[in-house]
Amino acid sequence: MSDRLIIFDTTLRDGEQAPGIALTPDDKVAIAHQLAKLKVDVVEAGFPASSPGDFESVSRIAAEVHGPVIAALARPVPDDIDAAADALRAAEHNRIHVFISTSPMHMETMLQMTPNEVMAAAVEGVKRARTYTDNVEFSPQDATRSEHQFVIDICKAAVEAGATTINIPDTVGFATPEDFTALMKRVYTEVRGDRDDVIVSTHCHNDLGLAVANSLSAISAGARQIEGAINGIGERAGNTSTEEIIMAIATRQDYFEVEIGAATTQIFDTSRLVSRLTGYPVQYNKAVVGRNAFAHESGIHQHGVLRNRENYEIMDAASVGQESSLVLGKHSGRAAFADALDKLNVVLEDEDFQRAFDRFKDLADRKGEIGEEGLLAIVDAAAVTPVETFELVDVHVSGGSQATPVAVVTVRRGEEAIEESARGDGMIDAAFGALLRAMGVEGVELVDYRVNPVTSGADAMASVDVVVRRGADTFSGRAISTDVVEGSARAFVHALNKTLLTPG
Ligand code: KIV
Ligand code: ZN
Repeated sequence: MSDRLIIFDTTLRDGEQAPGIALTPDDKVAIAHQLAKLKVDVVEAGFPASSPGDFESVSRIAAEVHGPVIAALARPVPDDIDAAADALRAAEHNRIHVFISTSPMHMETMLQMTPNEVMAAAVEGVKRARTYTDNVEFSPQDATRSEHQFVIDICKAAVEAGATTINIPDTVGFATPEDFTALMKRVYTEVRGDRDDVIVSTHCHNDLGLAVANSLSAISAGARQIEGAINGIGERAGNTSTEEIIMAIATRQDYFEVEIGAATTQIFDTSRLVSRLTGYPVQYNKAVVGRNAFAHESGIHQHGVLRNRENYEIMDAASVGQESSLVLGKHSGRAAFADALDKLNVVLEDEDFQRAFDRFKDLADRKGEIGEEGLLAIVDAAAVTPVETFELVDVHVSGGSQATPVAVVTVRRGEEAIEESARGDGMIDAAFGALLRAMGVEGVELVDYRVNPVTSGADAMASVDVVVRRGADTFSGRAISTDVVEGSARAFVHALNKTLLTPG
């Protein structure tokens, strides 16, 4: 039994399937580079057959990101497998991940296939994937609600067809540690047996809040790969959190007899990057990466930690990279700003730097001090601005608890300034209505809108994310401001500009 645990990160595939997340190929490449710094073993970069955007992201990651194995998902059908192989062509090390549902419900109502047909498809899919690579993973989707004997039989057939990793997904987060361990033990002994070249893996969802517990419990049953996503993002309640697995193994070396190769000090930067680019905030008390994960409130605890940190901490904040005290003010100039970005490992090209610096000065004038999180939000908003064709000049909203809100907006395109107004259900709705008119955009609907505080207090800066849909395409916009209405309007303009630049 190998003592090395493979960390397989699916932030960019399953994580990105979380509602309202619309990462661009550039965002995905940036996250993949950070996952390589974190030294995860496998990066599942996407599902190439699912959309041209996913194909492009996987191809770029395969070509540009070095270190981890780059994996791509595929159903067991020729087009999917060929697309995955094509997208992975430039990778140093690649893996095709073939999956098909095995539960009676999925087979009958979704696939409309018999178990024999599912078995035959799985075998054909794995064989075809093996013609492209010797690194093939097979997953029986909804394994925990499948007949266990069928899971064993199909996994055995997949191994015979050439699969080198057998991954058991708890697709709907139905398992408990005990019954999951029992299933994993069967897979380990009956499917892997004495095949040292076959790895048994877990992929757990968090519907009952048990994803991390289930994944860890499988180690004792022989699992040597755990799949997870940064910040636990993913379908519904999300996936196993990659950083919680890494820190559980690193912290409890006395208990888990496996090793990992992850660079734990990169965890916090990775979490923050994923949070910024997805627009999904990290809950304050989230294990490992929450802002309170190393904060002590009660006097007794503070006293204890001052005497000896280990009185109330089982991990050191520094070991997960969670330390910072960078603060810039309205008197900070270009050099201080550039130095701060350098410390944050941010590289901005000329125009992006200028745009970020202008925005920093504007916000610092209004807010006084800006800390690390604020700086990163500014950088992020600057980096997503270049596509703008319209620029927000002004937004003015009037209303109150009795009156219908009315917004008047002014936008500029080149030399032309356009003013429009609209009424709405609320201030933001009115502003968005006026912007749609001013920019002449039709046929889009708002599908997600989120305001995330970047700093605290009544004058806090907030980062606003919006996602709009036109037909099958979604477009995201992001902005930061000390004013929620202004930030919302900027983010909306940003998303609408993208729709104007993309032929419908
Ligand atoms: O949850 C699941 O079953 C999956 C598979 C594609 C592995 O994500
Ligand atoms: Zn999943």
